[in-house]
Amino acid sequence: MSEYILEMQNITKEFPGVIALNNVNLKVKKGEIHALCGENGAGKSTLMKILSGVYPYGTYSGKIIIDGEEKHFSNIKDSEKNGIAIIYQELTLVKYMTVGQNIFLGEEPVKNGVIDWLEVYSESSKILNELKIDINPYIKVMNLGIGHQQMVEIAKAISKKAKILILDEPTSALTESEAEHLLDILRELKSKGVTCIYISHKLEEVFDIADSITVLRDGKTITSNKKENFTMNKVISLMVGRELTQRFPKVQHNAGEVVLEVKDYTVYDPEIPNKKIIDNVNFYVKRGEILGIAGLMGAGRTELFSSIFGAYKGRKEGKVFLEGKELTINNPNEAIKNGIAYLSEDRKRYGLVTLMDVQENIALSNYDRISKFSVINNNAKVKYAEKYVNELKIKTPSLAQRVGNLSGGNQQKVVLGKWLMSDPKVLFLDEPTRGIDVGAKFEIYNIMNELVEMGVCVVFISSELPEILGMCDRILVIHEGKINGEFLIEEADQEKIMHCATGGN
Ligand SMILES: Nc1ncnc2c1ncn2[C@@H]1O[C@H](COP(=O)(O)OP(=O)(O)OP(=O)(O)O)[C@@H](O)[C@H]1O
Ligand SMILES: [Mg+2]
Repeated sequence: MSEYILEMQNITKEFPGVIALNNVNLKVKKGEIHALCGENGAGKSTLMKILSGVYPYGTYSGKIIIDGEEKHFSNIKDSEKNGIAIIYQELTLVKYMTVGQNIFLGEEPVKNGVIDWLEVYSESSKILNELKIDINPYIKVMNLGIGHQQMVEIAKAISKKAKILILDEPTSALTESEAEHLLDILRELKSKGVTCIYISHKLEEVFDIADSITVLRDGKTITSNKKENFTMNKVISLMVGRELTQRFPKVQHNAGEVVLEVKDYTVYDPEIPNKKIIDNVNFYVKRGEILGIAGLMGAGRTELFSSIFGAYKGRKEGKVFLEGKELTINNPNEAIKNGIAYLSEDRKRYGLVTLMDVQENIALSNYDRISKFSVINNNAKVKYAEKYVNELKIKTPSLAQRVGNLSGGNQQKVVLGKWLMSDPKVLFLDEPTRGIDVGAKFEIYNIMNELVEMGVCVVFISSELPEILGMCDRILVIHEGKINGEFLIEEADQEKIMHCATGGN
C-alpha cells in the first residue's frame, strides 16, 4: 500500500472567468499534519472543497486517490463515508441547537424508531472528553464563543470517524490561548492516527504544527516538502512570488490635534439589564496617529467601537466629540454622515452582501457620493469600484463578480474599499487582517499609513500583538470593559501589553 493516504493528481477547476486550480498536485502521508499555504485566492479552499465533495466529480478534472484507490465523490456524504471531514472557513453549526444535537446532526442514533437522545449526549460527552474539550453538550451553540464553536465542529468531525480532517483557517477568529488549545487537540488527533490538512495564514502556527508544507500560488502547486526543508521567509517568498523582507511598513507619524474624543463612555449588555460591557472609558484619537486597541477576545473592544458607530444594540452612556463637536449617533448611517467608518471583524454579518457584486458592495453605504437628486451615476460607481479594486489589488475576474465567490481575503478587501470610499475622518478597523495572507496584510498596513498621511485617524483593533506593535503609534489595552493600560509605542512591548490585557496593573 502507498505511504500516501491521499493523492490529488492534476486537479483543474474553472469558474466562469477564473481558473481556480491549474493542474494541482497534493500528496499527503498517513498520520501527518500537512499544511496548505498560499495567498488569498491561491485556490486552497477550492482544492479542499473538491476533496470533500462540495464540488462533485465531473465538475473538475484530475484524480482523487485515497489509500491507493481512485474515488469519485458525488456529494459531501460520499466523502464523509470515505473518512473525510472538513471544517470550513465559515462555521456551519446550527446556533439554536445544543452542542450534542449539532455533533450528531443528521447522524442521530436511533433506538426503537426514535432518536436516542441519551446516547446523543453521552456520546457527545465522550468525544469532547477524549479531545479534552470542556464544553457541556446540553448548552446551545449560540451561547458559545467562536473558539468553542470551532471545537464543537471538530468534535462533530470526529464523531463521523474522520480519517482525514481538513481545517480551513480554523484559528483566524480564535484568541491565542484558544488557538493553542486547538493545536493541542490536533496533536492529540495525530497521536490517534488521524491525518490532517491544515490551512492557515498564520505561519508561526504552520511551523509549530505541520510535518509537511505544500505551497499554492495562482492555482498551481509551487512546491511540497517536509517542514524542515523550509524557513518562514522561504514559504512567504514562495507564496507571494517575490521577496518580502519586511513585515511591517512602520513609518514615523507626527500626531496632531485631537479629532475624536470619547468621554465617560459606558455600554450595556443588550440582553442583561445593567450589565456593563464597557465601563466608563475615556480616550482620544489624534490626527495623524494610528491608535492600537489591544486586549483579549471578549474584553469589549468590538462592543465599544461598534457602539460608537451606532451598530451595537446595547444601551450606551457618555459623550463622543468629533473635532470638538458633540455627536449623537443612533445608527451607522449617522456615523457615516459624520465621517466615522467601522470595518467589522465579522464581514459576513455587517460588511458584505455576498449575493451582490463587487461594485455594488463598494458603493453600498456610499450612495450619497455617486448620486445626484437620488439618481445613481453609474459611471461614478464603476470608477470608484475600479479605483479600489486596483489600489487594494482585489483579485476578481470583473467588477460584476458576486462577492460570495471571491476568496475570503479578497472579500475583506472589498469591505475595506467600501469604507475608504466613504472618505472617513475616523476609521475603526476591527481585526482588518484576519484571514488575510502576508502579502495582502502588508498592503493593508501600507494603506493604513497612507490614510494617516492624508489626515485620517485610524483606530486599529487587533488580537495579534506583533501587528499592533509593528504598526501603531499609541496603544490602549482593554481588559473586562476598562482601559487597563496605555503605552506610547516606544515604551510598549509584548509582555507589558499581555500583562495589562490579562488584568495585571
Ligand atoms: N464559487 C466560485 N465562483 C467563482 N469563482 C470562485 C468561486 N470560488 C472560488 N473562486 C475563485 O477561485 C480562486 C480561488 O479561491 P479560493 O477560495 O480557493 O482561494 P483561497 O486560497 O482559499 O483564498 P483565501 O486565503 O482568501 O481563503 C479565487 O480567484 C476565487 O475568486
Ligand atoms: Mg480560503
